[in-house]
Amino acid sequence: MTDPIPIAKGAEAEIFDSRFLGRDALIKMRSPKRYRAAELDDELRSYRTRNEARLMKEARKAGVRTPVVYDVDLKEFSITMEKVKGIKVKEKLDREPGSAADVCMMIGNAVADLHNSGICHGDLTTSNMILTDDGKICLIDLSMGRTKAELEDMGVDVHLLERAFASAHPDLTEAFSALMNSYLAVKKEPNELLRKVEEIKNRGRYT
Ligand SMILES: Nc1ncnc2c1ncn2[C@@H]1O[C@H](COP(=O)(O)OP(=O)(O)OP(=O)(O)O)[C@@H](O)[C@H]1O
Ligand SMILES: [Mg+2]
Repeated sequence: MTDPIPIAKGAEAEIFDSRFLGRDALIKMRSPKRYRAAELDDELRSYRTRNEARLMKEARKAGVRTPVVYDVDLKEFSITMEKVKGIKVKEKLDREPGSAADVCMMIGNAVADLHNSGICHGDLTTSNMILTDDGKICLIDLSMGRTKAELEDMGVDVHLLERAFASAHPDLTEAFSALMNSYLAVKKEPNELLRKVEEIKNRGRYT
């Protein structure tokens, strides 16, 4: 049999099409990194695989849409998960900028729900979100996230999302404002968060 061909290849992982109990599935496999010593590499791949599966489950429990985890394999450092039907938010915004305000409001709500349940994502970009065919925002790629997130972690999430937006979608500044407004309307203690984000920005400026 020939080796399966990855349908996506990121910095750390490869994604393969698969099936699980009669359903469309994806396998996300963390490939070895030769520049890391083998022992450290195994540790990191194992940690990120376990962390990502755990975060997906915790977020789902809190009512935030993430892929269903079907299986975790710590020998292969892989997760078999639901293949979410929809379009990557990055592509949606590129192709249909007219939809940006609506999509961004949904993103704001989803991130606020995540943060209100004490979880931060760790890598919030429009490439790590899928607009599902049934019109919801599904968050993916949670390997850098954490539960028991502190104000600082949530501030970093928002700050990174703003930077990601500015670089990937420089023309969508109004839509990003809509995102922030819907986020702040749902987020618990929004003013504290806003102050933290300002602090993080200033830190970057003067250090
Ligand atoms: N459950 C899923 N359903 C549909 N598409 C997915 C799913 N998971 C990943 N994808 C697709 O595969 C791409 C890469 O996945 P992901 O972002 O998880 O990996 P990555 O960026 O390589 O990961 P990492 O940053 O952890 O190295 C995504 O941008 C998305 O297009
Ligand atoms: Mg990704």
